Amino acid sequence: MRKAAEISRKLLQWYDANARELPWRVPPNEARRANPYHVWLSEIMLQQTTVTAVKPYFEAFTTRWPDVAALAAAKDEDVLAAWAGLGYYARARNLLKCARVVAESGFPENEAGLLALPGVGPYTAAAIAAIAYGASAVVVDGNIERVMARLFNEHEALPAVKPSLKVHAARLTPPKRAGDHAQALMDLGATICIPKTPRCAGCPLQGHCAAYEAGSAAELPKRLPKNPKPTRRGIAYFALRTDGHVLLETRPPKGLLGGMLGLVGSEWAEASPAFDPPFAANWQPHAEDITHAFTHFNLILTLYVAQPKAANPRAGSFQTAPAPEDLPSIMRKAYEAGFLICNIDCGR
Ligand code: ADE
Ligand code: SF4
Repeated sequence: MRKAAEISRKLLQWYDANARELPWRVPPNEARRANPYHVWLSEIMLQQTTVTAVKPYFEAFTTRWPDVAALAAAKDEDVLAAWAGLGYYARARNLLKCARVVAESGFPENEAGLLALPGVGPYTAAAIAAIAYGASAVVVDGNIERVMARLFNEHEALPAVKPSLKVHAARLTPPKRAGDHAQALMDLGATICIPKTPRCAGCPLQGHCAAYEAGSAAELPKRLPKNPKPTRRGIAYFALRTDGHVLLETRPPKGLLGGMLGLVGSEWAEASPAFDPPFAANWQPHAEDITHAFTHFNLILTLYVAQPKAANPRAGSFQTAPAPEDLPSIMRKAYEAGFLICNIDCGR
């Protein structure tokens, strides 16, 4: 047997006995095809987010919107609120755009058609084609890159080594069960061929692994040293009115946290931006800054808090206090800190 076919056979055999049970997954011993809506939704949620974090969101979405037509008919603000906490909010906006295209004409059944959908990149198109439609598509995510770098003992650093890793992944992809093969590699990468301390003793591919043989598994894949993250600063204003309403605004649709609910405040910039309070009040600075680590920068927000009377000039921007979970993480932190200063429980 060709070496590639032998590797895939051993991998699938391991997967048949060890596949993780995941709510969007059809277990390997069942003949039915995975639901394309479930595969698409889970793959979008899993971009940049862990399986553990995604599970409850996946359950909540599929309970509330059981098929793509239901999701397409949902209100934008309901979907954005349900997405709050998952991060990368452009994904939620593209999710809705995509649902509305698919509700019209159904999911395309090939990689090229899938790739044309909003928010669907090469990885996601390949994953849906393989997992939902059984196509022999080449699926490469971060876990699979790590496994490939080790199996083939590739010492060139990421990201330059990516094309070679994809070639290796393509050679291993079997004509049948490509979806299970891809998910087997993901599970292997998540449970056995893990970062830093690979568990080679329990690995079904040990006998085929060049890095294991060379003793270099733990140092692969190599990466170019990262530039340190820059810091941005901003000001946010939390106002809780005597009638329990809070000052919030919907952020502009484009840009970071676009379309999400948030506190009124300045832009986020390297130098501390100036930003006038939204109205005159006894604004108190919060003793501790609110911090949040975004992917490309760390944010430090200075928070000002006021408790105006119900009749104030900006009454239009006040609204019934939402659940903290309906806000993106940085806004949730500032919101909870604001409530805490006002000595009122925000309902968590
Ligand atoms: N990560 C991204 N997609 C996945 C999948 N289908 N199974 C397991 N982990 C994943
Ligand atoms: Fe990864 Fe070790 Fe298995 Fe190689 S033998 S694939 S390094 S777990």
